[in-house]
Amino acid sequence: MGTFAITGSASGIGAATRARVEAAGHTVIGVDLRNAEIDADLGTPEGRQAAVDGVLERCGGTLDGLVTAAGVGPPFPAVPMASINYFGSVALLEGLHGALVASGDAQVVVVGSNSSSTQPNLHMDLVEAFLDGDEAKARQLAETYQDAYAPSKLALARWARRLAPTAEWAGAGVRMNVIAPGATLTPLLQAGLDDETFGPLIKGFTVPTGGFGSPDQIAAGIEFLLLSDARRFLCGTVLYIDGGTDALFRADAVPVPWVL
Ligand code: NAI
Repeated sequence: MGTFAITGSASGIGAATRARVEAAGHTVIGVDLRNAEIDADLGTPEGRQAAVDGVLERCGGTLDGLVTAAGVGPPFPAVPMASINYFGSVALLEGLHGALVASGDAQVVVVGSNSSSTQPNLHMDLVEAFLDGDEAKARQLAETYQDAYAPSKLALARWARRLAPTAEWAGAGVRMNVIAPGATLTPLLQAGLDDETFGPLIKGFTVPTGGFGSPDQIAAGIEFLLLSDARRFLCGTVLYIDGGTDALFRADAVPVPWVL
């Protein structure tokens, strides 16, 4: 049985994923602000380092999988959101890469969002600042635009897809994939629904299947990417579990034919 690190393990999608991974017989090292094996604030460089050090100590330098579910959404302030959602995820992915390689057979799931492709007209300079690893600039642009959520999630998906097929990841036995949930009823979504600005926007978002997703539905998708028999051939996939919203808004956008 393996050892898996899960960030955001204390609530919502991370907690539901933890339950499934443990039910499958594996050991979970949870990382969260509180109520986890490693309590750390992924919004700060010190917290991220403490999280990486804590996981490495607990797993003894060998990790069979990582799920980066820690995150915040609107109306949480955009500037710290930029730090938590993008840099708090990438720091763990980079900091634990060596331990994943040491496993020789590891699986990573990056938690993105369908907002990365269903929120129109994203600020692409913010996406680029994320991908450049420029936290100061990303925070400054998040302040300017008062927005960071969808750009942080698009950047995470791009970061993962750029690296997933490389020698350092797939070639080193570490398969990385992205899950893109739609609106899922967790404390994060409830805070948005309760907000007088964001609530009507979220409720107005069409979900063809009807209703919101449940944390366990998203966790079932993560379990597929993480533990299923398909896992060793899964690399660079972005798995949407969003009730059909992305397909509704952009039916022909996936797959995009390659024109040379
Ligand atoms: P949640 O609020 O239930 O869980 C998020 C967890 O992240 C919490 O336990 C929280 O304490 C932790 N966290 C927040 N800031 C942190 C920090 N600075 N350091 C360490 N941990 C921190 O929310 P949910 O919905 O389960 O979110 C999980 C992930 O799924 C997030 O990345 C979110 O962006 C993503 N997602 C959620 C959707 C939804 O509709 N609920 C839709 C698409 C993506």
